[in-house]
Amino acid sequence: MEPPLLEVKDLTVQFHLRRGTLRAVENLSFFVREGETLGIVGETGCGKSVTALSILRLLPSPPCEVVKGEIIFETEDLLKKGEAEMQKIRGRKISMIFQEPMTSLNPSLTIGEQIAECFRVHLGCSKREARARTEQILNTVHIPSPKALMDRYPHEFSGGMRQRVMIAIALACEPKLLVADEPTTALDVTIQGQILDLLDELRGKMNIALVFISHNLGVVAQLCNRIGVMYAGSFVEMGDKESLFTRPLHPYTTGLLKAIPLPHRRNEPLAAIRGSVCDLMNPPRGCKFHPRCHKAAEICRVTPPVLEPNSSVVQAACHFAGE
Ligand SMILES: Nc1ncnc2c1ncn2[C@@H]1O[C@H](COP(=O)(O)OP(=O)(O)OP(=O)(O)O)[C@@H](O)[C@H]1O
Ligand SMILES: [Mg+2]
Repeated sequence: MEPPLLEVKDLTVQFHLRRGTLRAVENLSFFVREGETLGIVGETGCGKSVTALSILRLLPSPPCEVVKGEIIFETEDLLKKGEAEMQKIRGRKISMIFQEPMTSLNPSLTIGEQIAECFRVHLGCSKREARARTEQILNTVHIPSPKALMDRYPHEFSGGMRQRVMIAIALACEPKLLVADEPTTALDVTIQGQILDLLDELRGKMNIALVFISHNLGVVAQLCNRIGVMYAGSFVEMGDKESLFTRPLHPYTTGLLKAIPLPHRRNEPLAAIRGSVCDLMNPPRGCKFHPRCHKAAEICRVTPPVLEPNSSVVQAACHFAGE
């Protein structure tokens, strides 16, 4: 089998802060094949954005430090690349869509200028050609009358339209990999659905691999075939969508699934996972989830369970997986 497009191996990322050292991502490993969709879910603060930003090397250093690991993209380790090389990769080979489109767009440039820049910088297009391509890509993301709208500024667009523009910028140069970090969280549910459909449509058409990050398991399931569940900086479970939903192995995944409101369970109270996420500056010994786990035994308090992600079956980092 061909090597994956992206392979993250044993990544550990920490922040050196005044209060101490915070380990945001620990021993994280996963892979994404060409054209594949991988979903990453987990509650707030579990390290999803740090993972995404690490891939694109966008974390400020200091305070951030990559302690160990490799991020192999097309057989080369991104962690060994210089900033100039990364600039050629970002937007051209790997793109990212952020949660809040307003903060990612430049308010003082028109939408058209911002998209055209991708074509000029990465593909060396002339001004005229870049403008023609901009119109084309705005059409592709279903922005009505792109010719007129490309000379407007971001504040003249609605949230959903701005996110379409972000998708246009991200996909302009037809990257191999798109990392979407909660791209629909700031939007209304109806618009959210439209944006998810658009992402799925374009990803399929352009054969782009997608890493889709969300705290919402339902949203991830809509788009992704394989899902990784993160807890306190590490994956606790990883596997194909069907198995994960029907036979979850990790108590945390089971808890997350029970917390999803479903029509056939409308008379049952939603189950909450007891306790709250551990302090990443002072994580518990052993399994980081053990203080919240109803299955926790002595071994969980002492030995951290490991997950072998390079397998096609569902895997969980739990001493009692599936029991
Ligand atoms: N630039 C930074 N400086 C210091 N700490 C940071 C920085 N960025 C992230 N962190 C810390 O790293 C941990 C993981 O943060 P991250 O943003 O990856 O969480 P997340 O899973 O994306 O959460 P959310 O769902 O809220 O977006 C958190 O404890 C956060 O406070
Ligand atoms: Mg985040």
